[in-house]
Amino acid sequence: MATITEEAVHAALAEVVDPTFEATLAKLGTLSEVKLDGAKVLARVRVSSPAESVQVELRKRAEAALKAVGVDELALVFDVQVPTRETTSNDPIPAVRNVILVMSGKGGVGKSTVAANLALALARSGTRVGLLDADVYGPSVPTMLGIEGHPTSKDGKLIEPLQRFGVKLMSIGFLLEDPRQAVIWRGAMLHGALQQFISDVNWGELDYLVLDLPPGTGDVALTLAQNLKVTGAVMVTTPQEVAVIDVHKALSMCKKLDIPVLGIVENMSYFVDPSGERHALFGEGGGARLAEEWKTPVLAQIPIDPAVGRAGDAGTPVVQSDPTSASAKVFMALAENLSERIARLHRERAGGDEAPVTEGPKRLRILR
Ligand SMILES: Nc1ncnc2c1ncn2[C@@H]1O[C@H](COP(=O)(O)OP(=O)(O)OP(=O)(O)O)[C@@H](O)[C@H]1O
Ligand SMILES: [Mg+2]
Repeated sequence: MATITEEAVHAALAEVVDPTFEATLAKLGTLSEVKLDGAKVLARVRVSSPAESVQVELRKRAEAALKAVGVDELALVFDVQVPTRETTSNDPIPAVRNVILVMSGKGGVGKSTVAANLALALARSGTRVGLLDADVYGPSVPTMLGIEGHPTSKDGKLIEPLQRFGVKLMSIGFLLEDPRQAVIWRGAMLHGALQQFISDVNWGELDYLVLDLPPGTGDVALTLAQNLKVTGAVMVTTPQEVAVIDVHKALSMCKKLDIPVLGIVENMSYFVDPSGERHALFGEGGGARLAEEWKTPVLAQIPIDPAVGRAGDAGTPVVQSDPTSASAKVFMALAENLSERIARLHRERAGGDEAPVTEGPKRLRILR
């Protein structure tokens, strides 16, 4: 048998096609290290999302390419480097790579449930995640994440977020004496509170900051869009026409504010009975129609599952309390689809050349 050279191995791996971008590793410049150690190859590849399915597929492709040049053993290391959104010089949180708004025109469709499970799913896949409860009138994060307590400040300037299950958390609920207390802020105060939750909280370096927005299309998204460039919005709907109508309004507001729509999440899509049969209790196709009209993907269809509601009420969302359940897997798939979509959007924005991978700023800029 001909001797295997490091050059041949490198050339074979360079031609492997990355499943996220459908381009070769050579073109993407993501093959960072190749070593031949006896009969074994050690390689390092950069990926732009934590999606496990991408790593599995890449490994499969790399193994096939190496087999063709006579190598059977591969140790492949993935460097997950989540690309960062655009930040201007006065961005309040430049070390936060992506800001994701979870919203809907409609109340009660499951925004908070989706936001909490999405944040946990992203964290479980190994990325640095924060969850900001942007609903100052009806905060859900303290209940859903089962956390109470008042954030403190180490330096008297920045507020330390609370942490649970590896996710940094901030909610108006943490600042109220009594969480059931009514919050009667309007206009300027709301604007100020939100700004503080972003710029005065020590979020540190994050790959994803997930924002749980209140129902409606109003002030919150506007305030956010004025302050920083968000990565985009995840629009939550239910299949019924009444919900879909309100979601159209939210989508058109995003368009006006230049907030990219990352995709649709259709919650309460179907119910699986104990025999395993699916029932579309609220009709079918609402999410798909929205997606088609607004030229955006359906990122997930989440079943109606009493365990999802119970887990949220009990303070440990289903992704955390029962990660192998069918519903948890749907949320994990949502996190994969979303992180992949974000990676592709960043690359498109950069003109389709090498994915923008920048080392985030080392220090948080504080602007007052
Ligand atoms: N897929 C699901 N299966 C079962 N129950 C669910 C599901 N999604 C959400 N729920 C339940 O529906 C209720 C509303 O959900 P949630 O609070 O997440 O909605 P929301 O859109 O954030 O509401 P609001 O507009 O009040 O902020 C909650 O009791 C929640 O536990
Ligand atoms: Mg909510």
